Amino acid sequence: MPTKLLYLHDSYQKTTTAKVTKVEQSSQQTIVYVDQTLFYPQGGGQPSDIGDIIGANGTLKVSFVSYNGGNLQHKGKLVGHLQIGEVVTLNLDWEHRYQHMQWHTAGHILDQAVKNVFPGIHGTNGEHGISKKMHVEFDQPIPLGNLPAIQAQIESIVAANLPISLEMVTKDEIIKRQIYAPFDLPANKPLRIVTIGKYPSMPDGGTQLQATSESQPITITTTKAKNGHSSLYYEVGVIAPETLPKVESVTTNTDSESLMVLRQHIASIKEQLMAEKVTAFDLKTKYLGKKGLFNDFAKQIKAVPGPERKTAGQLLNELKNFFETTIASRSAAPAAQAWLDVTLPGITPPVGHVHPVSQAMEEITTIFERIGFTRVRYPEVEWDWYAFGALNMPSSHPARDEWETFFVDAAASPQKGKMVLTPHTSNGQVREMERLDHKPPMRMININRTYRRQQDATHTQMFHQFEGLVVDKGINIPHLKGTLDYFAQEFFGPGTKSRIRPFHFQFTEPSFEVDFSCHLCQGTGKIQVDGQETKCKFCKSGWHEVGGAGMIHPNVLKAGGIDPEEYTGFAFGWGVERTYSLKEGLQIDDIRLLYSGDLRFLRQF
Ligand code: FA5
Repeated sequence: MPTKLLYLHDSYQKTTTAKVTKVEQSSQQTIVYVDQTLFYPQGGGQPSDIGDIIGANGTLKVSFVSYNGGNLQHKGKLVGHLQIGEVVTLNLDWEHRYQHMQWHTAGHILDQAVKNVFPGIHGTNGEHGISKKMHVEFDQPIPLGNLPAIQAQIESIVAANLPISLEMVTKDEIIKRQIYAPFDLPANKPLRIVTIGKYPSMPDGGTQLQATSESQPITITTTKAKNGHSSLYYEVGVIAPETLPKVESVTTNTDSESLMVLRQHIASIKEQLMAEKVTAFDLKTKYLGKKGLFNDFAKQIKAVPGPERKTAGQLLNELKNFFETTIASRSAAPAAQAWLDVTLPGITPPVGHVHPVSQAMEEITTIFERIGFTRVRYPEVEWDWYAFGALNMPSSHPARDEWETFFVDAAASPQKGKMVLTPHTSNGQVREMERLDHKPPMRMININRTYRRQQDATHTQMFHQFEGLVVDKGINIPHLKGTLDYFAQEFFGPGTKSRIRPFHFQFTEPSFEVDFSCHLCQGTGKIQVDGQETKCKFCKSGWHEVGGAGMIHPNVLKAGGIDPEEYTGFAFGWGVERTYSLKEGLQIDDIRLLYSGDLRFLRQF
């Protein structure tokens, strides 16, 4: 049984009881397992908690706690004995914990401050006290000149004393609510999100303060930039916990399932109310009326077990207050507002940005332009000849079926055949040979929309491809491989390798499928999770397939008016969406989302 993680629900609980489930002895220390714990295991940039586990006949001085796949290990020096099955008391070293929370929450405040100055930037990593050099890493460079503006944002978030709330969620909810996750969300861990004030929530499993003013002063000390990323280092002044407002522990135990369901319902019904566009009168009827949602909801309390009814009752009271105050604020005429708090932080106006696929196309173009390729764009509504015939696919050839083509209901050309929506950017190959008057050298990068009758999580009916074509004297496979390696390093980052595997395309000979090594496992197919080697879930094999490539078939060169005895060439063609979705830090499980027009999703990029 995995350990129940009480700290996920309440970061201010300092003591509890638990049952010992296992005791292990090594030469150096004792490892104790309990059925539930308050101790935070080191991870996510936050140091481990320390404290005591006290039994009838012994005490473990807990000096380190590790996650160990959900079966938490409390390690330390045991004086006396602890028995399996024995009920023990867990006491946190609260000063340590409180300081960890100040450091950790400060990282989140800094992250939000940076986002306020640079909408669209993402925090990708953080370190909040393990090495004492606390920092947050971002996926974009932050110019030094912006540090004063970021510092000012930090101070305003702290001064506003915004509440920090925690909510247990499922992975599906995180996806549905379009909550940005800078890392792969584990499928086997309880997931939680943290929300500062009304800022967007983010996944987080650490312990957090209840309000932003509890962590101050937060000072940015230095910044470092590397590979287009930047890290902001920070320090936090120490405030003695006793000088802060006393916060009583809310829960002393984990919620039962029905209480958790109730909490989740409450969160979603609150969201529903906030999104309503109807009048205050209609809201009152719908939410607080006799047959309204509140009365309906109150019936759920029966499902909560006896000991937790009191908490459930409190939750319902809070919900009723929330309904009443929100509905009242909707009905208040603006003129009735007696005052305006000019010290509140301003609201950052939304700033639009370039669609992620357009960003990817721009980046791909720049990478290839740097090595002498010319960006071109050929028709999306194309003749059969350029899409198939010139590419060594005679009209009856079964290879045409592979492309699931859309045919346009228009008159065919006597020379170039039917009209189609091009299923690939290879239609540009012979067009480029014609554009350059059949005279190599040629170095083309053709990026365009393409169409196929396909629709699932990795396929869309309209998608983009980018096609490289090089023709000259003496072009051979090592030139192709060098180009692939160059692109892999530039697009996916240093250390990424390319791999080619034999394949078949009608228009290249030999033909290959192209793979790039996985950034998560560096091409090994294995990753370390809590000290244990497991299969990399992102790639499963160490490699990601992105598309096709090969040496241009002599018949294609001939169709483009080039003598295959004198010239050779290579070509490759990959999906933009697929290639982009493999970038480090992005998690696009379903490429259809890119075209959903859902701003909550698109704003993440
Ligand atoms: C081709 O389209 C070839 N023209 C590639 C090529 C060019 C080979 C030059 C040799 C020389 P393929 O059908 O495998 O190959 O598609 C290439 C990539 O396009 C796929 O790996 C995938 O990344 C992307 N792709 C294909 N269909 C879709 C789709 N419906 N939605 C999104 N991406 C797609």
